[in-house]
Amino acid sequence: MTLTLTVRRVDLAALDTPLLVLALPPAATIGPPLAAVDAALGGALARALDRRDFRGGRDEVVHLSGSAKGPARVLLIGLGKSTDRGVALRRAASVAARRAHGMGVGTLTWYGGPATPAELEHVAIGLGLGMWEYTDLKTPPPTDERRTPLTAATIHVDDLAGADQALAAAQAIGAGYDLARRLGMMPGNVCTPDHLADVARDIGRRHGLDVQVLGRRELESLRMGAFLSVAQGTPQDPRLIVIEYKGAAPTVKPVALVGKGLCFDSGGISIKPAGGMEFMKFDMCGAAGVLGAMEAIARLKLPVNVVGVVGATTNMPSGTAVKPGDVVQAASGKFIEVINTDAEGRLVLADLLDYVRRYEPSAIVDAATLTGACVIALGHVATGVFGNNDGLVAEVLAAGVRSAERGWQLPIWDEYREWIKSDVADIKNTGGRPAGAITAAKFLQDFVDTTPWVHLDVAGTAYSETDLVAIPKGPTGVPVGMFVEFARGRVR
Ligand code: BES
Ligand code: MN
Ligand code: ZN
Repeated sequence: MTLTLTVRRVDLAALDTPLLVLALPPAATIGPPLAAVDAALGGALARALDRRDFRGGRDEVVHLSGSAKGPARVLLIGLGKSTDRGVALRRAASVAARRAHGMGVGTLTWYGGPATPAELEHVAIGLGLGMWEYTDLKTPPPTDERRTPLTAATIHVDDLAGADQALAAAQAIGAGYDLARRLGMMPGNVCTPDHLADVARDIGRRHGLDVQVLGRRELESLRMGAFLSVAQGTPQDPRLIVIEYKGAAPTVKPVALVGKGLCFDSGGISIKPAGGMEFMKFDMCGAAGVLGAMEAIARLKLPVNVVGVVGATTNMPSGTAVKPGDVVQAASGKFIEVINTDAEGRLVLADLLDYVRRYEPSAIVDAATLTGACVIALGHVATGVFGNNDGLVAEVLAAGVRSAERGWQLPIWDEYREWIKSDVADIKNTGGRPAGAITAAKFLQDFVDTTPWVHLDVAGTAYSETDLVAIPKGPTGVPVGMFVEFARGRVR
C-alpha cells in the first residue's frame, strides 16, 4: 500500500479530518494555532497538558476523542528531548502512522509546527515507515472486520518553499525502504536468489538501468572459489547481480554498493542451533539495502554513477557442502581456509569485493549482516562501520546521521590480522571470539585493493527480533538511508 502525501498550510481552526496528529515537545504550551484545536475539543487538549496526562516524552501517545465538527480524533505524539529535531520528527511520524494504520482512519493530518524542508522529509519518510506492513502471506480478515488502511496524509508546513522537492525525495527514499523491507520480510522459500535477480531486473526495466545476472557457470569461469564454496551445498543457482545507474558523465568513476545476499543462512556444516534460526532469512538485508538504494537513487535521478552488486545464495548443509578445514581459492587468487562454514558472508563478499574492481570505483561501501559479534558490541542501536580510509568513513558516518541510521566506527588495526592467519592457507575465515566483528572486517580488507572502502555490519540494525515501537519487529530498511544519503552527499 502506498501513502499519498500532500503538504499545505493547514488552518487548524477550519480543519476537517478523521485524525489530527499533533507532534509536541516536552512542556508544550498552547499557542494561537493550537488554541483553535483546544476550543474545538472543548478544552480537552489544555486539560491533557495541565493534568500532565501528556508530557511530550519520546514515543508517548495520547488519544483524544475529537469533535463532531473539526478533527474527529486527535493523537498527541511526544517528540521527547532530542538534539536532532528531524530525527525526533521522523520517529514520531512513524509512531503516529503505525497507530493511524491500525485504527483504520484512512487519512491523517500532521501538525508538528514549523518544519524545514529537511525536517519535512523526515516526517514524510517516517509516516511511510510507520504504516508499512507485509500482508501478502496472510488471508485478509472478513470484510466487516477489515480496517481502512492509511492511504493518504497531509503534512502541515508554514513555508511551502522547498516542500514539494522534499516530499518527492521522501517518496523516492520511502520506495527504497519499502522494497528493502519487503524483501527482508519475505520468507526464504519466496525470496530466493532468483527472486532477488528478478527484482533487480525489474528495477532496471522501470528505470532504464543495465542489469547483469551471473549464475554458477559464470562464477566458475570467474574462478570465484570463495563465493562458490558457500553455494556448493545448495541446489539453487547462486546469483551475482550487478545494477548500473548512470546519472553522471561516463568519465565520472562510480561508487560501488555491495550487499551480502544470503537468502537463508543455516550455518552449513557448522550448523546453527535451531532456536531463532528462522531469523536467518534476514541474512540478505545487505543485498536488500543495495536494491532499495538503487530504487531510491534512480527515482531521485541523482547526478552520480552507482554500481550496485549483490551476491545471493543460501548456506546449507548437504553432502556437497563445504567442510571445516577445506581450503578454497578466491577470485583474487588468495587461498582461504574455511574454519567455520557459518562465517560464509565474508567468503561471498571476498569475491564480490574483488569483482567490483573492474568498475574502477572511487569508493566501495559494502553492507552485510556479517557477525553476531557486532550485535553484542553495538546492539540494534548502531551499524558497525569499518574502513581503510578515514575520509570515507567520516562521509558514511555523516550520511548515517542525516538519515537517522546511526553508525559507529570500530578499528581495523593491523594487530587484528594476527587472528586470521592460517597454518595451511593465506588466510582463515574465522578469528575466534575476541573482536569478532573486527576480524571479519579485517578479512574483507584483504580482498579490497587501495580503493577507499567502508564495510557496514548491519547484523544488529537491519532487522529486529523485538518490537521497536516506531516499527514492528522485522526488517527496518537499514542500510537504505545510509546508502542513499551517502550517494546524495557526493553531489551536494
Ligand atoms: N549471518 C550471520 C551473522 C548474524 C548473526 C547476523 C546474528 C544476524 C544476527 C553470519 O553469517 C554468521 O553466522 N557469523 C558467525 C561468524 C562466526 C562463525 C565467526 C557469527 O557471528 O556467529
Ligand atoms: Mn553464517
Ligand atoms: Zn550469514
